[in-house]
Amino acid sequence: MQDNLRIESRFESGELSGIIPIKNRKTTVKRRIGIDGKTVLREDSEDHDVVDATCIENHVNRLKFNEKPGVLIFSDYDKGFLNQKTVELFKDLCMRYDMKSIVDPKPSEENLGRIDMFKGCYGITPNIEEACEISGLTKLSKLEEICGRCIDRLQPKGFLLITLGGNGMFLHEMTDGSNTYIPAVKVKEPDIVGAGDTSIAALSLALAAGATHYEAAMLANYAASIAVSKKGTATVKRQELIDMIKKMD
Ligand SMILES: Nc1ncnc2c1ncn2[C@@H]1O[C@H](COP(=O)(O)OP(=O)(O)OP(=O)(O)O)[C@@H](O)[C@H]1O
Ligand SMILES: [Mg+2]
Repeated sequence: MQDNLRIESRFESGELSGIIPIKNRKTTVKRRIGIDGKTVLREDSEDHDVVDATCIENHVNRLKFNEKPGVLIFSDYDKGFLNQKTVELFKDLCMRYDMKSIVDPKPSEENLGRIDMFKGCYGITPNIEEACEISGLTKLSKLEEICGRCIDRLQPKGFLLITLGGNGMFLHEMTDGSNTYIPAVKVKEPDIVGAGDTSIAALSLALAAGATHYEAAMLANYAASIAVSKKGTATVKRQELIDMIKKMD
């Protein structure tokens, strides 16, 4: 309880960081067994139980912001935190603050219907494999068709952005139904760790700052290409992004 109060007050001071403790839920433990500094075995111990929405309802409903936050990211890992009820809470929060909800979905083979909880969110950013699962099609189908089925199913308000790894991105705009292919930046010996996370982070930041969907997707494509040009989990510096924009223009 003490922890909860401390975290709420942190949120109230406008500092958007904090952890919501959930009683009896095990923290994920990752064990790596290595030989000569190289990981040969990795064991993850995780709790996948569906999180009870009442545990977080109080926190969500008491969130206060000094400035209107532009975007909320649903980074779905299908580990129980994002479920029908918790997603509804966050969707309500988005309505209250007029925030754009951007979803990085994780369709589950065993329960494909689960993905429908993101119906009506603002933007959806599946990679091509996820888009195929959502649409029920394979990579052999046309991108337009995969995209069309994803849209019918999830009905985003703003856009659908299918990320295509080293092949770039495919943006569908809901306003005019247009499709735009954005080619990837060529990277020598890419290390793709964190490509998706970098891309959704840059996209959301740009949208929050007022960029159009196309501008935000271009920035996401540039930022992700910088991240994959570095070894391991990498960050992207502001100046690196500015340099990339100048180089590509
Ligand atoms: N080899 C590459 N070269 C250049 N850019 C890349 C490469 N791989 C990924 N990217 C950039 O990163 C974006 C996201 O990559 P991807 O489609 O692989 O996402 P993802 O599968 O969700 O990644 P993650 O495994 O991190 O979740 C791509 O749309 C592209 O802009
Ligand atoms: Mg991803």
